[in-house]
Amino acid sequence: MSERPYHIEQMISAKSIAARIETLAGEIETEFAGTKQLLVVGLLRGSFVFIADLVRELSLPVEVDFIETSSYGNAMQSSREVRILKDLRGKAEGRDVLVVEDIVDTGHTLAHVLTLLKGRRPARLRTIALLDKPARRETNVKADWIGFEIPDEFVVGYGIDYAQHNRNLPYIGRVRMDVDAPDDAPEVKKC
Ligand code: PRP
Repeated sequence: MSERPYHIEQMISAKSIAARIETLAGEIETEFAGTKQLLVVGLLRGSFVFIADLVRELSLPVEVDFIETSSYGNAMQSSREVRILKDLRGKAEGRDVLVVEDIVDTGHTLAHVLTLLKGRRPARLRTIALLDKPARRETNVKADWIGFEIPDEFVVGYGIDYAQHNRNLPYIGRVRMDVDAPDDAPEVKKC
């Protein structure tokens, strides 16, 4: 996406996100009732806001850890390569593990991380994604819990960026290009 002037329209309010997280946390508590300690794994960087709100709604013993991935595409190929930039600090073997993703788009990131973690033989491995964009899927991965299914639109906020901007918006917004703006117009102020 080019750095042309754009504006952001609210798609999912902060209040709706909070209400949905409360519901999802209840379902996760039921699934993992009696766990010794749930290992909650956030995928950096986009999940940092979601995981922060989610774990504070969980009445379970939790450990928080992170994996950072980097994906890059080649326009000539449909497949995407995912690299691990930062791995877990601790072990996943024998643990109850919940992977937290901000958005599942093609699904390559989540599929790659799940393959990696399954190889470490966790006791239980589940996934949650705040947003799911099924129209863009290139893999057969599907999160066990989904906050909101959204259409194929470019979204930002609540941890999700556009060229490293807008992660700090408290809501999910859709990016709208200012089509009437001339190509050499100065950039709009971004978060
Ligand atoms: C984004 C997003 C997901 C991933 C989803 O991360 O945060 O992790 O892409 O895309 P996929 O389903 O097509 O694999 P990105 O690589 O932009 O890094 P970021 O989390 O640091 O923003």
